[in-house]
Amino acid sequence: MDSTTNSIRQIAVGFLGMGNIGAGVWRLIGEMQDEIASREGVEFAVKKVLVRDLLKRRGAAVPKELLTTNADDVLNDPGIALVVEALGGEQPAAEYIRRALIAGKSVVTANKLALATHWKELLETAHETGSCLYFEPGVCGAIPVIRTVTDSLQANRIERLYGIINGTTNYILSQMSAKDASYADALFDAQQLGLAEPDPTADVEGGDAACKLSILSTLAFRAHVPLEGLFRRGITTITPIDVSYGRELGYAIKLLAVAKRDGNKVQARVHPTFVPLSHPLASVNGSLNAVYLYGHACGELMLYGRGAGDAPTASAVVSDMLAAARTDCSNASAAYRMTGAVEMDTDWESRYFIRLQAVDQPGVLGAIAGILGRHGVSIASMRQTTGEGRAPLLFVTHMAREKDVRAALGEIDESLATIENVIYVEEGL
Ligand SMILES: NC(=O)c1ccc[n+]([C@@H]2O[C@H](COP(=O)([O-])OP(=O)(O)OC[C@H]3O[C@@H](n4cnc5c(N)ncnc54)[C@H](OP(=O)(O)O)[C@@H]3O)[C@@H](O)[C@H]2O)c1
Repeated sequence: MDSTTNSIRQIAVGFLGMGNIGAGVWRLIGEMQDEIASREGVEFAVKKVLVRDLLKRRGAAVPKELLTTNADDVLNDPGIALVVEALGGEQPAAEYIRRALIAGKSVVTANKLALATHWKELLETAHETGSCLYFEPGVCGAIPVIRTVTDSLQANRIERLYGIINGTTNYILSQMSAKDASYADALFDAQQLGLAEPDPTADVEGGDAACKLSILSTLAFRAHVPLEGLFRRGITTITPIDVSYGRELGYAIKLLAVAKRDGNKVQARVHPTFVPLSHPLASVNGSLNAVYLYGHACGELMLYGRGAGDAPTASAVVSDMLAAARTDCSNASAAYRMTGAVEMDTDWESRYFIRLQAVDQPGVLGAIAGILGRHGVSIASMRQTTGEGRAPLLFVTHMAREKDVRAALGEIDESLATIENVIYVEEGL
């Protein structure tokens, strides 16, 4: 699979994609090649690069003769030992990863969507073929969270984890907090800086974070947490009013990924969340990412850093390429071994921030409090101001069950109030 010259092992590499990440990896390999050769005795020799458009200008000086628009030139070439998948999208990426593994090639992918959506199929293919599948760059870019969970913390039962795992939404919410900006203005700003796509849906609706949480919680709990079992809500309904009320109450707003395991039950959710200002996650601002977790032996642990961008992501890709160059894959396969099935728990407990516009009439407040109380939702704090016809009303509840809160809110009709927003409050982080 690889050839040895003057004690330097050449590893033939095929790239699937040469966009932001592919070009970042190309540049980093170029920059680090002497160090990698002298330290690891390895040289990456790129044989083919799959792209869509042969004439496009690229962020890396890739020789024209390496470019191809035919995936078979990478996947069917027995001389290519290692494939770097940086295409993006679910298909054809997932199918190309599967074919590369079946062909006995090691694969490094940055693609959380393809991986989370085809997790079982791709992991089983890697197990059956003995080919290595690496995906550190797909979850939080440069932050070594996959290796930490599967390797450094393998003597732990991880009980719960919390993550700020999407840099775009964290940037938008940080701008809304720091500048009292509207969601639309903060999104526009992120787009101008290249931190948000022209179509930001995958980020702002929580899809990107859900893919990462599915992968991360699966590895942390050593049981498959399927993407379709995750609860997901995006940040598009968050207003400056919510952010400023939250701040007054002592909270920062984050798009938080939450995963908890209790015996055989797992809850996994991504949604806007108020976290106490005193918690380290509250200080993770801008496009930075962090993962905060508890293991039964290690206690609390937080990883923090750049979760995206070409250079930080390339850092994780090249590290995985070196792992693939070193290993016989038995370690990689063992790290991803699952211990059994779990049941998704959709009726979790949380505290809730509920913002309403209540009809400004005597008895309305009592009626709303009565409805919440009948459903077992008790109020921890309340704030009310008078208005013309409708008055802003704000509750923060004690711990309550999701289904009870939903049932109670379903009973509050227009004759009493309009529900403006409901935001989870995570106190027991
Ligand atoms: N950007 C980040 O900060 C970041 C961070 C972590 C992970 N990732 C992940 O890395 C992956 C790549 O992201 P990116 O930002 O590099 O994307 P990108 O800039 O859009 O690059 C995609 C590359 O794949 C090629 N491509 C796409 N579909 C193809 C197809 N069907 N056949 C042949 N070539 C195809 C494109 O070819 P052309 O150039 O010819 O169009 C392009 O070179 C994604 O899975 C993304 O989620 C990105």
